Amino acid sequence: MIFADPPYNLSGAGFMTVKNGKPVACNKGKWDVIEDIHAFNRTWISECKRVLSDTGTIWISGTLHNHPSVGVLLKELNFWIINDIIWFKRNATPLLSKTRLAPSTELIWLASKSKNYYFDYDTAKELNGGKQMKNLWEIPAERHLTEHPTEKPVTLLERVLLLGSKIGDTVSDPVMGSGTTGAVAKKLARNFVGIEIDDNYFEIAKNRIAKTHIENILL
Ligand SMILES: C[S@@+](CC[C@H](N)C(=O)[O-])C[C@H]1O[C@@H](n2cnc3c(N)ncnc32)[C@H](O)[C@@H]1O
Repeated sequence: MIFADPPYNLSGAGFMTVKNGKPVACNKGKWDVIEDIHAFNRTWISECKRVLSDTGTIWISGTLHNHPSVGVLLKELNFWIINDIIWFKRNATPLLSKTRLAPSTELIWLASKSKNYYFDYDTAKELNGGKQMKNLWEIPAERHLTEHPTEKPVTLLERVLLLGSKIGDTVSDPVMGSGTTGAVAKKLARNFVGIEIDDNYFEIAKNRIAKTHIENILL
């Protein structure tokens, strides 16, 4: 299984965000400024297809700034699109400007190489109190555990890994940032292969994963 939370290309485009209660220009770092985002997406998604197992799934998060490009490429590269998941953050950062609706969602494409893929329907149902799970996931944004500016909630990754992989499977994240996917993979007794271009974030992820323990309850 692959989970990827690639650069959304939000920085340097004039978007504003809120930091310590003050409006500031959105600047996640150099890694979030990519000249030809569609070409970049094509390269890494093609490589993911090359290494993904025949029954594995790929989960790609994004916002409207990058998500259409990823969707087009999944079709072009002949992936089987399984779901578009909407992640709703009830506690999303408020918008200071009065020019648009406050963004409170992120989107996750779920795709595979063929119609024969692994998906744990029963666990999804169990996690949803015995009722069929829908593609609208309400999961709050969580307090960050590291200095990485776009750390994903552990709860979100736990759900993704529980539905898309089994104990002992190999999970990969080609843009692992602070290592959320790796930490959750270890906690849930999955193997993990992570890639990160920034040396500082790589160290943060490596230390975070090293300090994480497998949860006994699952073994
Ligand atoms: C949106 S963040 C991922 C955050 C991660 N999901 C987490 O929970 O911490 C994307 C990451 O991709 C990394 N990145 C950007 N371009 C990359 C590349 N070409 N190869 C590997 N990593 C890259 C960035 O340095 C950044 O840490």
